[in-house]
Amino acid sequence: MQRHVPVVASMECIMSGSTDYKDIYVTGLKNQHAVETQAIGTIQNELPRMEPYPELHARMQMEHQRSTIQAARLDDLLARQGTSKSIAKEAVSGAVATVAGFVHAASGDEVLKNVLAAVGFKSYEAASYKVLIALADAAGATADRTVLEMSLHEEEEMGTWLHDHLAGFVQAYLERSATKG
Ligand SMILES: [Fe+2]
Repeated sequence: MQRHVPVVASMECIMSGSTDYKDIYVTGLKNQHAVETQAIGTIQNELPRMEPYPELHARMQMEHQRSTIQAARLDDLLARQGTSKSIAKEAVSGAVATVAGFVHAASGDEVLKNVLAAVGFKSYEAASYKVLIALADAAGATADRTVLEMSLHEEEEMGTWLHDHLAGFVQAYLERSATKG
């Protein structure tokens, strides 16, 4: 004789799982908010040392603005889920404190190391937004897709820009090193 009860029970479990999905999604939003906050702090620290590389400096200034907007978007999405902005900010305070650890110690090829770190960071962020989109869908927050996709495309665009300019940064670094003797 077949046992149907466990099947029904598991279906109920899935149906009632939407609250859990929402919790997971909200946690994901908070985590990404912490990542964006970390990005803002890291860029702020690195910007002065990028001044000798005007193209990179200008682009990182833009990236700073974008990260601020992306964090604000996450604030809005958290508010939609009933999570107050102040709670979201409390959650990230610990992450902000670790920003200093992400900045490389001053060294000769510091700019190249920071560019490589930025490439990794952009890849991580793009993947994070893809995860958030999947979590939003699972939580039934499909209206959030458009906003998350906006941030995803920005992360991907910056990642591509960094890749496209890597050789140029190496050249600028070598020329600067030669000038300094
Ligand atoms: Fe970002």
